[in-house]
Amino acid sequence: MIRVGIVGCGYWGINYVRVFSELAQAPVVRVCDLNEERLRLVHHKYSSVFPTRSLEELLSDPNIDAVVVSTPAVTHYEVVKACLLKNKHVLVEKPLSTQIEEGNELIQLAEERQRVLMVGHTFLYNPGILKIKDCLSRNELGTVYYLHATRTHLGLIRNDVNAIWDLAPHDISIFSFLLNTQPLWVSAVSGCFLKSSVPDVGFITLGYPQNIIGNIHVSWINSNKVREVVVVGSKKRIVFDDLNNLERVRIYEKGASITGDVDTFGEFQLQLRDGDIISPRIETSEPLKNQCIHFLNCLAKGHTPLSDGKNGLNVTRVMSAITRSMENRGSPVDISQ
Ligand SMILES: NC(=O)c1ccc[n+]([C@@H]2O[C@H](COP(=O)([O-])OP(=O)(O)OC[C@H]3O[C@@H](n4cnc5c(N)ncnc54)[C@H](O)[C@@H]3O)[C@@H](O)[C@H]2O)c1
Repeated sequence: MIRVGIVGCGYWGINYVRVFSELAQAPVVRVCDLNEERLRLVHHKYSSVFPTRSLEELLSDPNIDAVVVSTPAVTHYEVVKACLLKNKHVLVEKPLSTQIEEGNELIQLAEERQRVLMVGHTFLYNPGILKIKDCLSRNELGTVYYLHATRTHLGLIRNDVNAIWDLAPHDISIFSFLLNTQPLWVSAVSGCFLKSSVPDVGFITLGYPQNIIGNIHVSWINSNKVREVVVVGSKKRIVFDDLNNLERVRIYEKGASITGDVDTFGEFQLQLRDGDIISPRIETSEPLKNQCIHFLNCLAKGHTPLSDGKNGLNVTRVMSAITRSMENRGSPVDISQ
Protein backbone atom coordinates (compact mmCIF):
# COMPACT_ATOMS: atom_id res chain seq x y z
CA MET A 1 0.00 0.00 0.00
CA ILE A 2 1.21 3.50 -0.88
CA ARG A 3 0.04 6.28 1.41
CA VAL A 4 -0.44 9.64 -0.24
CA GLY A 5 -0.27 13.25 0.90
CA ILE A 6 -1.74 16.01 -1.26
CA VAL A 7 -0.42 19.57 -1.21
CA GLY A 8 -2.73 22.16 -2.75
CA CYS A 9 -6.46 21.46 -2.69
CA GLY A 10 -7.74 24.20 -4.98
CA TYR A 11 -9.75 23.86 -8.19
CA TRP A 12 -7.59 21.00 -9.52
CA GLY A 13 -6.05 19.49 -6.36
CA ILE A 14 -9.40 18.38 -4.97
CA ASN A 15 -9.71 16.06 -7.99
CA TYR A 16 -6.58 14.27 -6.79
CA VAL A 17 -8.18 13.78 -3.36
CA ARG A 18 -11.21 12.22 -5.04
CA VAL A 19 -9.20 10.02 -7.45
CA PHE A 20 -6.81 8.65 -4.83
CA SER A 21 -9.70 8.11 -2.42
CA GLU A 22 -11.24 5.87 -5.09
CA LEU A 23 -8.02 3.85 -5.45
CA ALA A 24 -7.94 1.27 -2.67
CA GLN A 25 -4.17 0.72 -2.98
CA ALA A 26 -3.34 4.36 -2.23
CA PRO A 27 -5.30 6.04 0.56
CA VAL A 28 -4.94 9.80 1.07
CA VAL A 29 -3.60 10.26 4.58
CA ARG A 30 -3.10 14.02 4.80
CA VAL A 31 -3.83 17.12 2.77
CA CYS A 32 -2.11 20.48 3.05
CA ASP A 33 -3.31 23.88 1.87
CA LEU A 34 -2.58 27.42 3.05
CA ASN A 35 -6.29 28.20 2.76
CA GLU A 36 -8.38 27.04 5.76
CA GLU A 37 -11.55 27.18 3.69
CA ARG A 38 -10.20 24.61 1.20
CA LEU A 39 -9.09 22.35 4.05
CA ARG A 40 -12.56 22.52 5.65
CA LEU A 41 -14.14 21.61 2.31
CA VAL A 42 -11.87 18.57 1.85
CA HIS A 43 -12.36 17.42 5.44
CA HIS A 44 -16.12 17.79 5.12
CA LYS A 45 -16.12 15.46 2.07
CA TYR A 46 -13.34 13.10 3.18
CA SER A 47 -13.49 12.88 6.96
CA SER A 48 -10.66 10.33 7.34
CA VAL A 49 -8.13 12.71 5.75
CA PHE A 50 -6.08 14.80 8.17
CA PRO A 51 -5.92 18.47 7.07
CA THR A 52 -3.02 20.79 7.85
CA ARG A 53 -1.76 24.21 6.80
CA SER A 54 1.84 23.12 7.48
CA LEU A 55 3.83 21.44 4.69
CA GLU A 56 6.46 20.56 7.29
CA GLU A 57 3.86 18.66 9.32
CA LEU A 58 2.67 16.69 6.27
CA LEU A 59 6.21 15.84 5.19
CA SER A 60 7.22 14.77 8.71
CA ASP A 61 4.62 12.03 8.67
CA PRO A 62 6.68 8.84 8.15
CA ASN A 63 3.54 7.03 6.94
CA ILE A 64 3.38 9.14 3.79
CA ASP A 65 5.26 7.56 0.87
CA ALA A 66 4.26 9.87 -1.96
CA VAL A 67 3.14 13.46 -2.31
CA VAL A 68 0.99 15.05 -5.01
CA VAL A 69 1.78 18.74 -5.53
CA SER A 70 -1.08 20.75 -7.02
CA THR A 71 -0.17 24.25 -5.92
CA PRO A 72 0.26 27.25 -8.29
CA ALA A 73 3.03 26.75 -10.89
CA VAL A 74 5.46 29.28 -9.40
CA THR A 75 5.50 27.35 -6.10
CA HIS A 76 6.27 23.93 -7.63
CA TYR A 77 10.04 24.18 -7.27
CA GLU A 78 10.01 25.03 -3.54
CA VAL A 79 7.32 22.52 -2.62
CA VAL A 80 8.70 19.63 -4.72
CA LYS A 81 12.20 20.25 -3.41
CA ALA A 82 10.94 20.08 0.20
CA CYS A 83 9.14 16.80 -0.58
CA LEU A 84 12.22 15.20 -2.20
CA LEU A 85 14.45 16.32 0.67
CA LYS A 86 12.11 14.33 2.95
CA ASN A 87 12.49 11.30 0.64
CA LYS A 88 8.94 11.34 -0.70
CA HIS A 89 8.05 10.26 -4.23
CA VAL A 90 6.43 13.16 -6.05
CA LEU A 91 3.71 13.65 -8.64
CA VAL A 92 3.68 17.37 -9.44
CA GLU A 93 1.16 19.17 -11.61
CA LYS A 94 2.35 20.77 -14.85
CA PRO A 95 4.61 22.59 -15.34
CA LEU A 96 7.47 20.89 -13.47
CA SER A 97 8.95 24.33 -12.84
CA THR A 98 8.92 27.78 -14.39
CA GLN A 99 12.75 27.92 -14.60
CA ILE A 100 14.98 25.42 -16.44
CA GLU A 101 17.68 25.44 -13.72
CA GLU A 102 15.08 24.69 -11.05
CA GLY A 103 13.72 21.75 -13.05
CA ASN A 104 17.23 20.40 -13.52
CA GLU A 105 17.86 20.62 -9.78
CA LEU A 106 14.66 18.71 -8.98
CA ILE A 107 15.54 15.92 -11.43
CA GLN A 108 19.01 15.62 -9.93
CA LEU A 109 17.63 15.55 -6.40
CA ALA A 110 15.12 12.83 -7.30
CA GLU A 111 17.92 10.76 -8.87
CA GLU A 112 20.19 11.18 -5.83
CA ARG A 113 17.40 10.15 -3.47
CA GLN A 114 16.14 7.41 -5.81
CA ARG A 115 12.64 8.84 -5.73
CA VAL A 116 10.09 8.84 -8.54
CA LEU A 117 9.46 12.33 -9.92
CA MET A 118 6.48 12.51 -12.25
CA VAL A 119 4.78 15.51 -13.87
CA GLY A 120 1.01 15.65 -14.34
CA HIS A 121 0.85 15.98 -18.10
CA THR A 122 -2.66 14.55 -18.01
CA PHE A 123 -3.21 14.40 -21.75
CA LEU A 124 -0.60 11.67 -22.15
CA TYR A 125 -3.05 9.48 -20.22
CA ASN A 126 -6.10 10.56 -22.22
CA PRO A 127 -7.61 7.70 -24.28
CA GLY A 128 -8.36 10.12 -27.15
CA ILE A 129 -4.75 11.27 -27.44
CA LEU A 130 -3.63 7.64 -27.11
CA LYS A 131 -5.88 6.76 -30.06
CA ILE A 132 -4.12 9.40 -32.19
CA LYS A 133 -0.74 8.13 -31.02
CA ASP A 134 -1.79 4.64 -32.08
CA CYS A 135 -2.79 5.87 -35.57
CA LEU A 136 0.54 7.70 -35.94
CA SER A 137 2.51 4.67 -34.77
CA ARG A 138 0.83 2.63 -37.53
CA ASN A 139 1.68 5.38 -40.05
CA GLU A 140 -2.02 5.65 -40.91
CA LEU A 141 -1.84 9.37 -41.61
CA GLY A 142 0.94 9.13 -44.17
CA THR A 143 3.42 11.99 -43.95
CA VAL A 144 2.57 14.28 -41.05
CA TYR A 145 2.40 17.89 -42.29
CA TYR A 146 1.32 19.91 -39.26
CA LEU A 147 -0.50 19.95 -35.91
CA HIS A 148 -2.80 22.64 -34.64
CA ALA A 149 -4.19 23.07 -31.11
CA THR A 150 -6.81 25.48 -29.81
CA ARG A 151 -7.27 25.94 -26.08
CA THR A 152 -9.55 28.89 -25.44
CA HIS A 153 -12.12 29.90 -22.82
CA LEU A 154 -13.43 32.85 -20.88
CA GLY A 155 -12.22 33.34 -17.32
CA LEU A 156 -10.23 31.33 -14.77
CA ILE A 157 -7.52 33.99 -14.88
CA ARG A 158 -4.48 33.01 -12.83
CA ASN A 159 -2.36 35.37 -10.76
CA ASP A 160 0.94 33.48 -10.77
CA VAL A 161 1.42 32.73 -14.49
CA ASN A 162 0.08 34.14 -17.77
CA ALA A 163 -2.35 32.36 -20.13
CA ILE A 164 0.51 30.93 -22.18
CA TRP A 165 2.21 29.28 -19.19
CA ASP A 166 -1.17 28.13 -17.90
CA LEU A 167 -2.50 26.51 -21.07
CA ALA A 168 0.23 25.83 -23.65
CA PRO A 169 2.16 23.20 -21.60
CA HIS A 170 -0.72 20.80 -22.33
CA ASP A 171 -0.34 21.14 -26.10
CA ILE A 172 3.45 21.16 -26.06
CA SER A 173 3.43 17.88 -24.15
CA ILE A 174 0.80 16.44 -26.53
CA PHE A 175 2.75 17.45 -29.67
CA SER A 176 6.05 16.01 -28.38
CA PHE A 177 4.30 12.81 -27.34
CA LEU A 178 2.55 12.37 -30.70
CA LEU A 179 5.63 13.19 -32.78
CA ASN A 180 8.05 11.43 -30.45
CA THR A 181 10.45 14.35 -30.73
CA GLN A 182 11.10 17.86 -29.40
CA PRO A 183 10.66 21.14 -31.28
CA LEU A 184 13.79 22.75 -32.73
CA TRP A 185 12.60 26.35 -32.69
CA VAL A 186 9.67 28.46 -31.65
CA SER A 187 8.11 31.76 -32.59
CA ALA A 188 5.37 33.26 -30.41
CA VAL A 189 3.40 36.45 -30.04
CA SER A 190 1.05 37.35 -27.24
CA GLY A 191 -1.52 40.00 -26.39
CA CYS A 192 -2.20 41.68 -23.03
CA PHE A 193 -5.82 42.83 -23.08
CA LEU A 194 -7.06 42.61 -19.48
CA LYS A 195 -3.89 43.58 -17.62
CA SER A 196 -1.24 45.67 -19.35
CA SER A 197 1.68 43.32 -18.65
CA VAL A 198 0.12 39.85 -18.36
CA PRO A 199 -0.48 38.05 -21.68
CA ASP A 200 -3.96 36.57 -21.85
CA VAL A 201 -3.77 35.48 -25.51
CA GLY A 202 -0.98 33.63 -27.30
CA PHE A 203 -0.19 32.40 -30.81
CA ILE A 204 2.69 29.94 -30.87
CA THR A 205 4.42 28.27 -33.82
CA LEU A 206 6.84 25.41 -33.29
CA GLY A 207 9.24 23.85 -35.80
CA TYR A 208 9.89 20.11 -35.51
CA PRO A 209 12.29 17.82 -37.38
CA GLN A 210 11.20 16.82 -40.92
CA ASN A 211 9.65 20.26 -41.45
CA ILE A 212 6.61 19.44 -39.34
CA ILE A 213 4.93 22.58 -38.02
CA GLY A 214 3.05 22.86 -34.73
CA ASN A 215 0.70 25.72 -34.00
CA ILE A 216 -1.05 26.55 -30.73
CA HIS A 217 -3.62 29.20 -29.93
CA VAL A 218 -4.42 29.81 -26.25
CA SER A 219 -6.72 32.39 -24.72
CA TRP A 220 -8.36 33.29 -21.42
CA ILE A 221 -10.64 35.88 -23.03
CA ASN A 222 -12.39 33.94 -25.78
CA SER A 223 -16.04 33.16 -25.02
CA ASN A 224 -15.82 30.12 -27.30
CA LYS A 225 -14.49 27.29 -25.13
CA VAL A 226 -12.45 24.99 -27.37
CA ARG A 227 -10.19 22.07 -26.50
CA GLU A 228 -9.06 20.76 -29.85
CA VAL A 229 -5.98 19.15 -31.36
CA VAL A 230 -5.79 18.50 -35.11
CA VAL A 231 -3.14 16.45 -36.89
CA VAL A 232 -2.97 16.83 -40.68
CA GLY A 233 -1.21 14.16 -42.70
CA SER A 234 -0.92 13.33 -46.39
CA LYS A 235 -3.52 10.53 -46.14
CA LYS A 236 -5.74 11.51 -43.21
CA ARG A 237 -6.61 14.26 -40.75
CA ILE A 238 -7.42 13.45 -37.13
CA VAL A 239 -9.37 15.75 -34.84
CA PHE A 240 -9.38 15.37 -31.04
CA ASP A 241 -12.20 17.33 -29.42
CA ASP A 242 -12.00 16.98 -25.66
CA LEU A 243 -15.41 18.62 -25.18
CA ASN A 244 -17.22 16.13 -27.42
CA ASN A 245 -18.18 13.20 -25.22
CA LEU A 246 -19.81 11.30 -28.08
CA GLU A 247 -17.11 11.63 -30.74
CA ARG A 248 -13.88 12.57 -28.97
CA VAL A 249 -11.81 11.57 -32.01
CA ARG A 250 -12.75 11.85 -35.68
CA ILE A 251 -10.63 10.49 -38.48
CA TYR A 252 -11.11 12.12 -41.89
CA GLU A 253 -9.81 9.80 -44.58
CA LYS A 254 -8.98 12.71 -46.84
CA GLY A 255 -5.63 14.24 -47.74
CA ALA A 256 -3.40 15.74 -50.37
CA SER A 257 -0.03 14.58 -51.64
CA ILE A 258 2.01 14.74 -54.82
CA THR A 259 3.81 12.06 -56.76
CA GLY A 260 6.45 12.29 -59.46
CA ASP A 261 9.34 14.73 -59.75
CA VAL A 262 8.20 17.60 -57.57
CA ASP A 263 11.01 19.89 -58.70
CA THR A 264 10.15 19.70 -62.41
CA PHE A 265 7.25 21.94 -63.32
CA GLY A 266 4.38 19.92 -64.75
CA GLU A 267 6.03 16.57 -64.08
CA PHE A 268 4.21 15.83 -60.85
CA GLN A 269 0.67 14.77 -60.06
CA LEU A 270 -1.46 16.12 -57.27
CA GLN A 271 -3.32 13.33 -55.50
CA LEU A 272 -6.43 14.30 -53.60
CA ARG A 273 -7.82 11.51 -51.49
CA ASP A 274 -11.47 11.58 -50.47
CA GLY A 275 -12.77 8.92 -48.11
CA ASP A 276 -14.90 8.30 -45.05
CA ILE A 277 -15.14 10.14 -41.78
CA ILE A 278 -14.69 7.66 -38.97
CA SER A 279 -15.52 8.08 -35.33
CA PRO A 280 -13.59 5.30 -33.55
CA ARG A 281 -14.71 3.86 -30.26
CA ILE A 282 -12.73 5.48 -27.46
CA GLU A 283 -12.37 3.94 -24.01
CA THR A 284 -14.17 6.08 -21.42
CA SER A 285 -11.61 6.03 -18.60
CA GLU A 286 -10.75 9.25 -16.70
CA PRO A 287 -7.33 10.64 -17.77
CA LEU A 288 -6.47 11.88 -14.26
CA LYS A 289 -7.23 8.47 -12.79
CA ASN A 290 -5.13 6.77 -15.50
CA GLN A 291 -2.29 9.16 -14.66
CA CYS A 292 -2.50 8.39 -10.92
CA ILE A 293 -2.60 4.63 -11.55
CA HIS A 294 0.49 4.99 -13.78
CA PHE A 295 2.26 6.84 -10.95
CA LEU A 296 1.40 4.07 -8.46
CA ASN A 297 2.51 1.35 -10.91
CA CYS A 298 5.84 3.11 -11.42
CA LEU A 299 6.35 3.22 -7.64
CA ALA A 300 5.41 -0.43 -7.24
CA LYS A 301 7.50 -1.73 -10.16
CA GLY A 302 10.36 0.76 -10.14
CA HIS A 303 9.48 1.97 -13.65
CA THR A 304 10.23 5.41 -15.08
CA PRO A 305 6.99 7.38 -15.65
CA LEU A 306 6.02 8.34 -19.17
CA SER A 307 5.91 11.97 -18.01
CA ASP A 308 8.97 11.84 -15.75
CA GLY A 309 11.03 14.83 -14.63
CA LYS A 310 13.01 14.92 -17.89
CA ASN A 311 9.83 14.90 -19.94
CA GLY A 312 8.49 17.74 -17.78
CA LEU A 313 11.74 19.68 -18.12
CA ASN A 314 11.46 19.48 -21.92
CA VAL A 315 8.14 21.32 -21.65
CA THR A 316 9.66 23.96 -19.34
CA ARG A 317 12.50 24.38 -21.85
CA VAL A 318 10.05 25.01 -24.71
CA MET A 319 8.01 27.38 -22.51
CA SER A 320 11.15 29.38 -21.69
CA ALA A 321 11.93 29.73 -25.41
CA ILE A 322 8.32 30.82 -26.03
CA THR A 323 8.69 33.50 -23.35
CA ARG A 324 11.87 34.81 -24.99
CA SER A 325 10.22 34.88 -28.42
CA MET A 326 7.16 36.71 -27.03
CA GLU A 327 9.43 39.32 -25.47
CA ASN A 328 10.87 39.93 -28.95
CA ARG A 329 7.57 40.10 -30.86
CA GLY A 330 7.82 36.64 -32.35
CA SER A 331 11.50 36.44 -33.26
CA PRO A 332 12.34 32.74 -33.74
CA VAL A 333 14.20 31.21 -30.80
CA ASP A 334 16.19 27.99 -31.12
CA ILE A 335 15.48 25.43 -28.43
CA SER A 336 18.65 24.06 -26.92
CA GLN A 337 18.34 20.40 -26.00
N1 LIG B 1 -3.76 18.92 -15.62
C1 LIG B 1 -4.75 19.77 -15.74
O1 LIG B 1 -5.63 19.61 -16.58
C2 LIG B 1 -4.80 20.96 -14.81
C3 LIG B 1 -5.99 21.71 -14.70
C4 LIG B 1 -5.98 22.78 -13.82
C5 LIG B 1 -4.85 23.10 -13.10
N2 LIG B 1 -3.73 22.36 -13.25
C6 LIG B 1 -2.51 22.66 -12.48
O2 LIG B 1 -2.77 22.39 -11.10
C7 LIG B 1 -2.09 23.30 -10.26
C8 LIG B 1 -3.08 23.98 -9.34
O3 LIG B 1 -4.03 24.67 -10.11
P1 LIG B 1 -5.46 25.07 -9.50
O4 LIG B 1 -6.30 25.46 -10.65
O5 LIG B 1 -5.96 24.01 -8.57
O6 LIG B 1 -5.06 26.38 -8.66
P2 LIG B 1 -5.83 26.96 -7.40
O7 LIG B 1 -5.29 28.34 -7.21
O8 LIG B 1 -7.29 26.76 -7.53
O9 LIG B 1 -5.33 26.03 -6.19
C9 LIG B 1 -4.05 26.07 -5.66
C10 LIG B 1 -4.17 25.76 -4.18
O10 LIG B 1 -2.85 25.65 -3.65
C11 LIG B 1 -2.82 26.31 -2.37
N3 LIG B 1 -1.43 26.69 -2.11
C12 LIG B 1 -0.71 27.68 -2.67
N4 LIG B 1 0.57 27.66 -2.23
C13 LIG B 1 0.66 26.64 -1.36
C14 LIG B 1 1.71 26.10 -0.56
N5 LIG B 1 2.93 26.61 -0.61
N6 LIG B 1 1.43 25.04 0.23
C15 LIG B 1 0.19 24.51 0.28
N7 LIG B 1 -0.86 24.98 -0.45
C16 LIG B 1 -0.62 26.02 -1.27
C17 LIG B 1 -3.78 27.48 -2.52
O11 LIG B 1 -4.26 27.93 -1.27
C18 LIG B 1 -4.87 26.87 -3.39
O12 LIG B 1 -5.92 26.32 -2.61
C19 LIG B 1 -1.35 24.26 -11.20
O13 LIG B 1 -0.04 23.82 -11.36
C20 LIG B 1 -2.08 24.11 -12.53
O14 LIG B 1 -1.23 24.34 -13.63
C21 LIG B 1 -3.69 21.30 -14.08
